[in-house]
Amino acid sequence: MKAKIVLLPGDGIGPEVLGAAQKVLEAVAVKYDHQFTYDKHLIGGCAMDASGTALTDETLSACIESDGVLLGAVGGPKWDDPTAKVRPEQGLLALRKGLGTFANLRPVKPHPDLLDASPLRPERLDGVDLVVVRELTGGIYFGEPRARKPLAGGIQAVDTMSYTDEEIRRVAHLAFKLARGRRSKVNSVDKANVLESSRLWRQTVTEVAGEYPDVELEHTLVDAAAMFLIQRPASFDVMLTANMFGDILTDEASVLTGSMGNLPSASLGESGPGLYEPIHGSAPDIAGQGVANPIGMILSMAMMLRYSLSLEDEAQQVENAVDAALSSGHRTRDLANAAETALNTQEMTRVIVDQI
Ligand code: IPM
Ligand code: MG
Repeated sequence: MKAKIVLLPGDGIGPEVLGAAQKVLEAVAVKYDHQFTYDKHLIGGCAMDASGTALTDETLSACIESDGVLLGAVGGPKWDDPTAKVRPEQGLLALRKGLGTFANLRPVKPHPDLLDASPLRPERLDGVDLVVVRELTGGIYFGEPRARKPLAGGIQAVDTMSYTDEEIRRVAHLAFKLARGRRSKVNSVDKANVLESSRLWRQTVTEVAGEYPDVELEHTLVDAAAMFLIQRPASFDVMLTANMFGDILTDEASVLTGSMGNLPSASLGESGPGLYEPIHGSAPDIAGQGVANPIGMILSMAMMLRYSLSLEDEAQQVENAVDAALSSGHRTRDLANAAETALNTQEMTRVIVDQI
C-alpha cells in the first residue's frame, strides 16, 4: 500500500516521541512492503515562532489531503503567558475542528507486568480494559461566547458549554458501534444533575441507545465516574463523554497503566484522515533529554494503521511489539522502579523495532 502521512512533531518531547514512532512505522513498511511518504509541518508554539500562528492554512490543507496525521504534542512554558492572544493549544483545537474529528478514542489497558507502576493496588487493576470515547469538537472547548469583559471594579471571563443533539448523536453512534466489538457496555458520563447541556446529552444518548438493544447503557455523573475509575475501573467498557470531562477523566485513567506516557489516542470523523496523538503533553521538564516514553506515540501510530489505513495485522504487530518489550522487562524512566534500569527513548524504540 502507498500512504501519505503528515507528521506534526510540535513542541517539547513531541519531536522525540514522533521520531520514535516513525522508526517503528518504517520497520512495518519494510516488513509488509508498504510505501509511506512523510510530509512534516509545524504546529503549536514552534509554528507561532515561525509564522505567528499555531496552525497555518497550508498545514491544515496538507493534513486534510493526507491519509493520516501523527501529532506529538503542543505547548510549553515559553508560550504560557495567560494574556497572550495566540496560544499553542489553539493550533491543536483548530486542527481537530478542521479535520472534523469529533470522536477521540483513548484505550486504557494496563500491561500485566506494569501493575506495580500504578499507584493502585494490583487487584483493582485486574481485568481493566476500557476505552474512553471523548467528544472532541464541541462542548466548552469551542462554545461561544468566550470572552473577557471589564466590569465595574473588576473583570469577568466567560466560557460556554454548548452541545447540539446532532453533535451528541454522531459520537454516541460511534461509541455504541465500538461497544459491539467489545463487551457491549456503554457508560455515558455527564453532569445532568446541574448542566442543561448534560441533560440534552443524556436524553440524546438514551434515544440513540434504542437503536442498539444489544448494548447495555448506563448513565453516570462525572464526579461519581471519577471515583469509580479508581474504585472499580474493571467495570467500565466504553465510557462516552463530553470534551472537557473526557480530557480530565483520561489523565486520571492513564494512571491505571502506570504512566500517562503509555496512552495513545485516535481522533476520528465521518470521513477523511484521522489524527493520532498520545494523550500526554509536551513535558517541558524532560524535553530535549531523550528520555521520554515513546509508547503512547507508537501505539497512536498503531491506531492509525488500524483506523485510517485498515492495516489490522500491522497494527496488531506494533501493539504486540510494545507488549513484548514491556514483558521482557524494558522500561523507560517513567515506568522503571528503583531496582530497574531505565532505557532512554532511542533504546526503548530499538527494542520495539527489533520485535517487528
Ligand atoms: C489532550 C490535551 C489537550 C486537550 C490540550 C493540549 C489542548 O490535554 O489532548 O488531552 O485539552 O484536549
Ligand atoms: Mg488532556
